[in-house]
Amino acid sequence: MVGLKIKVALFATIISLGFASAGKIMESDSSEGAQLNNFERAEQLSPLINVTWSVDFDNETVTFDVSALTSAYVGFGFSSEGGMYNADMVTGGVDNNGVTYFQDRYSASIGEPVVDMEQNWSLISAREARGITNLRFVRDFDTGDVQDLPIQDQETYFIWAIGSADGINYHPERGNFRVNILQPK
Ligand SMILES: *[C@@H]1O[C@H](CO)[C@@H](O)[C@H](O)[C@H]1NC(C)=O
Ligand SMILES: *[C@@H]1O[C@H](CO)[C@@H](O)[C@H](O)[C@H]1NC(C)=O
Ligand SMILES: *[C@@H]1O[C@H](CO)[C@@H](O)[C@H](O)[C@H]1NC(C)=O
Repeated sequence: MVGLKIKVALFATIISLGFASAGKIMESDSSEGAQLNNFERAEQLSPLINVTWSVDFDNETVTFDVSALTSAYVGFGFSSEGGMYNADMVTGGVDNNGVTYFQDRYSASIGEPVVDMEQNWSLISAREARGITNLRFVRDFDTGDVQDLPIQDQETYFIWAIGSADGINYHPERGNFRVNILQPK
């Protein structure tokens, strides 16, 4: 009889320990799911342009810092195929009078990208010094604007273009860079 009681008590203890640990696992799982690790990542897209971006999973925003070897404009954005087809981007810079310009644009095909009806990439700062233009701006993962592409956890391409400071006859430099914007590497 005594042996049975001990067995029952032991069994109950094992069961309750089992539940306790199951509860713990569920708790830690859900807290890990809620806070994906924010990160900052830097890439040199070409000898002419660098980008550093920080991802904030709590606010679902990405802050970009783009430095380009130009005194003219900088174009920067992303598209799933790496070209101008279905591309979401900004163009910006500081003009010869020191005035900042910055526009949220998209392009459905080849040609000059058009300015979005809704401006959902927000400029933080624009600077130009010693032939380098630096733009800082922030974007929601998903702006809800049909003229923007959502930033998703998948492979895409950064696309970039810079004007030349050397004159209007000069073709802009451009390129792309394969990346998953929401992954630290
Ligand atoms: C995220 O949002 C919170 C609350 O609106 C704000 O206090 C915080 O500054 C934001 N973080 C960033 C990096 O913008
Ligand atoms: C990009 O980063 C590299 C390495 O830090 C640096 O040497 C280069 O000058 C930078 N280029 C621009 C355009 O900022
Ligand atoms: C996008 O921009 C429009 C117009 O400026 C604004 O009304 C809207 O709230 C923005 N959406 C987001 C998600 O920021």
